[in-house]
Amino acid sequence: MLLQRDAQGQPIAIRREDYAAPAFWIDTVDLTFDLDPAKTRVLNRMQLRRNPDAPAQPLRLDGDELNLARVLVNGQGASFRMEGDQLVLDGLPSAEEGAFELEIFTTCCPIKNTKLMGLFVSEDTFFTQCEAEGFRRITYFLDRPDVMAMYTVTLRANKAAYPVLLSNGNLVEQGELPEGRHFAKWVDPFRKPCYLFALVAGKLVAREQRITARNGKEHLLQVYVRAGDLDKTEHAMNSLVNSVLWDEARFGLPLDLDRFMIVATSDFNMGAMENKGLNIFNTKYVLANQATATDADYSNIESVVGHEYFHNWSGDRVTCRDWFQLSLKEGLTVFRDQEFSQDLCADASARAVKRIEDVRVLRTAQFPEDAGPMAHPVRPDSYIEISNFYTVTIYEKGAEVVRMMQTLVGRKGFEKGITLYFERHDGQAVTCDDFAQAIADANPDSELSRLLPQFKRWYSQAGTPRLAAHGVYDAQNRSYTLSIVQSCPPTPGQATKEPFVIPVNIGLLDASGRELPMQLEGEERITHGTRTLVLSRAGEQITFVGLDAEPVPSILRGFSAPVILDFEYTDAQLLTLLANDPDPFNRWEAGQRLGLRAALQGIAALATDITPVLNDAYIDAMRSVLRNPKLDAAFKELVLTLPSETYIAEQLDVVDPQRVHLVRDAMRAQLASALFSDWQQVYEENHDTGAYTPDPTSSGRRALAGMALNFLCLAARSSGDTVWPGKTLQRFKDAGNMTDRFNALNALVSSGHTLAAQALARFHAIFKDEALVIDKWFSLQAGAPDRGGDILPLVKQLMKHPDFSIKNPNRARSVIFSYCSANPGAFHRPDAAGYVFWSERVIELDAINPQVAARLARALDRWSKLAEPYRSAAREAIARVAAKPDLSKDTHEVVTRALAGN
Ligand code: TRP
Ligand code: ZN
Repeated sequence: MLLQRDAQGQPIAIRREDYAAPAFWIDTVDLTFDLDPAKTRVLNRMQLRRNPDAPAQPLRLDGDELNLARVLVNGQGASFRMEGDQLVLDGLPSAEEGAFELEIFTTCCPIKNTKLMGLFVSEDTFFTQCEAEGFRRITYFLDRPDVMAMYTVTLRANKAAYPVLLSNGNLVEQGELPEGRHFAKWVDPFRKPCYLFALVAGKLVAREQRITARNGKEHLLQVYVRAGDLDKTEHAMNSLVNSVLWDEARFGLPLDLDRFMIVATSDFNMGAMENKGLNIFNTKYVLANQATATDADYSNIESVVGHEYFHNWSGDRVTCRDWFQLSLKEGLTVFRDQEFSQDLCADASARAVKRIEDVRVLRTAQFPEDAGPMAHPVRPDSYIEISNFYTVTIYEKGAEVVRMMQTLVGRKGFEKGITLYFERHDGQAVTCDDFAQAIADANPDSELSRLLPQFKRWYSQAGTPRLAAHGVYDAQNRSYTLSIVQSCPPTPGQATKEPFVIPVNIGLLDASGRELPMQLEGEERITHGTRTLVLSRAGEQITFVGLDAEPVPSILRGFSAPVILDFEYTDAQLLTLLANDPDPFNRWEAGQRLGLRAALQGIAALATDITPVLNDAYIDAMRSVLRNPKLDAAFKELVLTLPSETYIAEQLDVVDPQRVHLVRDAMRAQLASALFSDWQQVYEENHDTGAYTPDPTSSGRRALAGMALNFLCLAARSSGDTVWPGKTLQRFKDAGNMTDRFNALNALVSSGHTLAAQALARFHAIFKDEALVIDKWFSLQAGAPDRGGDILPLVKQLMKHPDFSIKNPNRARSVIFSYCSANPGAFHRPDAAGYVFWSERVIELDAINPQVAARLARALDRWSKLAEPYRSAAREAIARVAAKPDLSKDTHEVVTRALAGN
């Protein structure tokens, strides 16, 4: 730790501008593991050579919590010293003397590894997690992604306890050893950075499938799980097969390995990890059958299996030069998994639903991040702990930056760009600049190519840009002029911003909702449908000609850029867009704008009695959506979902979370009662989806039926009706799949009905042996609507439940995060008890698992926006955490950034 702290003992920031190539290269690594939970021995034999392009320096190898037993250079005992956690060797052979062998023998203790980084044990099985800097917890190494080596790995362990021994690449040898032990030797045919190393050892079984690629090559696909879970692997395997086929069909990127393995573990810090040929997954993103997993689970599994598989090219074949380039692989791979899921959709409506869902994540999670103390560019300039930068900005905003490139060069042009990128950089560790350059070079005549240096400001400038648009109709000239001014608020370390390149997809409707042909002033051509305008100046004016009346502009169709659009739409215009916009995204968006407008008015109103929040026009519009036979159920469900409390709060300068909660609740109650008979009909028409399949059409119908039940139980709450709660309980009992069952349970719990208690008890009894379902059981309760401050005591109770364990990240998330990060109405208590609970849990978790603690620490990111008394109480809670001595770098960075500047 010494080297990473300054004189005051504070962690030191790593800066992008300090990047220097390594002083040594590692060409080959030969690892031998003697696996033992209490003391695993690791023999590491490497071939190294000096980097002739770097100044001569000692070799500094990273290590963390290792016991060092031996260091040999070319077979001879070598002199070395420790500098903090680094192992430093002087006097190594010169560049002219060439390669040398370094042998390092260490031990570590996997059973005590609660950080789940490096080598750890989960349910008697060994797993590794090396990204970003976990390999140094396995052996001393140059733990940086630009050092790429060939790996040979031998695993030795007791055969009865650890019958399956896996690592990256191909199995080349296996056999028996004395004393009931056995071994397996794996060779990875590709060079890789150490963060992609993995091993797994334990009692596992696999679903297997052979597939033949376009070129006729055969591959073996395997999904490894614990013995009882084999019946939950079909969907993950199908998703993997689809991923392999899609990447080849869409981008010409084939599977490059004979064998591709996925292994599931129930103890994992994040979703999954793309280790070359041996992806390791959180069970949450592998295991599914209709009895235990919801439609949302099925769809997440498809995305995450796709995501990790697509990393095989975008991440593994071409990797990051340094961790500041993280979005090079993550932004691109999220974009790829989003496109994959869209391409699997049968029709345009399902594609639009997927797009809306992705934008909703961006706006409810990334926009707040970009406006808060942790705001950072897609390519950050500095960090204290890289684990804190696996963020929605790197992932989701990074994906939007890639998507804008596709918009600017077209779908075919983008595919050409991707081909050039992989041709040019295969086997290399590169930068975000290299990626953008390849896409531009493959499309020399594109707007991207023309504006490339400016476009790359998306990588360097943090903050969400705002577009202030204003339209003026000139009846005399039959023209309509749209003025658009862009701006971007200051973010930490960036006071002023330069203009961005912003592709704005636009269409024009007439007052009756028909799409108008479009002609720009000074242009001959007339276009129909959507056009992409490329903004690059701080302010621009676009004039449309040949218009007989003022049009209704449909701006930012498909959410063509990650910006906030301000346009003073009238209610009538929004109603027109909601009823008619041929662009489904903007159709949905119009409904959201109307809902948001009502919410903000209700919040601003001085009266304590805020009902009714929604006007008749809004209710009528929602009724028309529900009754429209041309719209899909999934789309209706999205339109009828009000903007979240978090999203509403983001629009306010000062947030009273209780007021936001109260107003949104009142809106929901109003939708429930005003549309009561429609909800009944919607339920009757959609609740039977036949034999279960997780396809978009039937899952959309289940989602809408679930929403209807929720509103029907909510309406029953105020009317005293017992019919619908009774029906809901029956539905809960009879349900043929988890989606229907969980939606029914949720309807009872969130309406606070007395039947909820018996349903919850029954649910626990049925699923007591299904960890992922028990997570849902915890999460539903910790996330339930607060009534008179009852949720915090319940959460404390749940933490004493025999099934609770704070060491298991999924379980900790299901209780603690569901309360602190996903239940604002219950968390933001006037008595500050929610914040006190939060600070205690952050400190408790920090000693166990800093990555999980630092995520939880982010729950109060937006504290400075809060109204009193919340603001002072939240600040005090953060300060209490920050004052704790021996905090991890992870949590330290989050809380000090939260306190900075306010
Ligand atoms: N690279 C992984 C992905 O995006 C995620 C990841 C990064 C991760 N660091 C991790 C997963 C640590 C688990 C633990 O797919
Ligand atoms: Zn990823």
